[in-house]
Amino acid sequence: MNMEAARAEPRPTKDAGLGRLQSVGRGSARAVAILWVSAGLTLALPVLCAAPGTVSYTRDVAPLFRLNCNGCHHPGKEKGGVDLTSVASILKGGKHGPGVVPGDPAAGVLLGEVRGPDPAMPKEGDPLLASAVQLIEAWIREGARDDTPTPVDPGPPLYAAPPVIPALAYSPDGRFLAVAAHREVVLLGATNLAREARLIGGATRPESLAFSPDGARLAVAGGSPGVSGILQVWEMASGRREGEWRLAGDSLLGVSWSPDGTRLACGGSDKLVRVVRASDGQKLLQFGQHSDWVFGAMFLKDGKRVVSGSRDRSLKLIDAADGRLLDVLNRDTEPVVAVARHPSEDWIAFGGSEARVRLYKAEVKPDNIDPGKDSNFIREFESFDGGVTALAFSADGRRLGVAGLPPGEVRVFDVADGKRLAVLPGHGGAVFALAFSPDGVHLATAGYEGVVRIFDWAAKRLVTNAVPVEVQGK
Ligand code: HEC
Repeated sequence: MNMEAARAEPRPTKDAGLGRLQSVGRGSARAVAILWVSAGLTLALPVLCAAPGTVSYTRDVAPLFRLNCNGCHHPGKEKGGVDLTSVASILKGGKHGPGVVPGDPAAGVLLGEVRGPDPAMPKEGDPLLASAVQLIEAWIREGARDDTPTPVDPGPPLYAAPPVIPALAYSPDGRFLAVAAHREVVLLGATNLAREARLIGGATRPESLAFSPDGARLAVAGGSPGVSGILQVWEMASGRREGEWRLAGDSLLGVSWSPDGTRLACGGSDKLVRVVRASDGQKLLQFGQHSDWVFGAMFLKDGKRVVSGSRDRSLKLIDAADGRLLDVLNRDTEPVVAVARHPSEDWIAFGGSEARVRLYKAEVKPDNIDPGKDSNFIREFESFDGGVTALAFSADGRRLGVAGLPPGEVRVFDVADGKRLAVLPGHGGAVFALAFSPDGVHLATAGYEGVVRIFDWAAKRLVTNAVPVEVQGK
């Protein structure tokens, strides 16, 4: 469930609040005594006699925050700088000091916000019941223990069928082809497609892959839809995961590196653009001026600006230092679903449901007061019947590969004049990922079918193909 949806749920009334109290009080009946009165009225008598260690964060406290607070206090929407979705972030608090000090209810800011006759929080809607406040207080007094269950390591992913492949990337040295699968990225030998390594992480669905400019690292953006948005950085030499950061409550999309390899930008299905430090996942910037999924966020050559492309139809040029919107680059003709930056120019190609691919200059328009003017437009490429699903430039910037609908159409265009150079046959389903080999000879394709295909695109010839994972019973 996505956080916005969670927030849109009707707030429980005070009566419904009792039901909620009953359920959170389950198993800690000593904390709360409930009396049924004949007229059908329900009265909750909070009895503050919880024995030490009886309040559970997972069972008692987290559900209260989830229902009443997390809509405004989660990663991506941290009102007052406060995230209330984990014990660590609850303790941390916000702008005005720690939220909670274990063992000392009087010390943190959180309790003061929800207590009293006219509490400041929740900002909108009904105050917490006194009994709920007492549960939180008792939890703090008992040491604010974190009893969140450690997830069982599910082991390496198993496959009953070839997985849908949402992303592909060649390592800059041309050795590996990285393939996003289920809960892992598989590294294949670039020429023979042999499995070389499996990068298994905590993101259920890796959605986007990007090698650092020096090839030493691989960034993976993804998550579990409606649950978490996760960014990972892997070191290629060791196959070690250097970092895995939960940055959002919904999947992260379209990741890119800054030219100096120190920062990462990504889009997301929570409509935000994020810029983070690549060494530790520290959030540097969050841009919230899109009204729909952001499919890609790409640094420009100077590393000082980022372009984001969104299903809200816009390509936005953002100052990467302060998050200022510098300009909207395109005319809002169609949702942007596939988007890529030219490797050596500040040009952005994008495609969407209108099935054309368009190329735009990424710079502030001379007439940026007039949104109707299309002065950054460079050219348009031949249209597809049913929509564009993936785009990729060759490393020399001369070729643009485009996959579209009907399922499986992959074409290669000349970037200079828009001419079609090749149509690659043989796909039996939608293609979601394209990547040119660094020497530009091969184009790798993958998608719905779960098959990686390598084409000699100029010869319009399939060189090899493989399912990148082991499928059980096959
Ligand atoms: C409708 C949105 C909304 C909801 C729901 C909400 N908050 Fe807030 N919260 C805010 C805003 C906005 C701020 C920033 C300060 C302000 O404007 O009062 C804030 C600030 C805070 C702060 C920081 C106060 C400080 O001085 O540093 C805490 C702690 C807090 N909220 C706790 C909670 C708790 C606990 C709940 C649930 C019981 C909750 N909030 C529910 C919007 C909300």
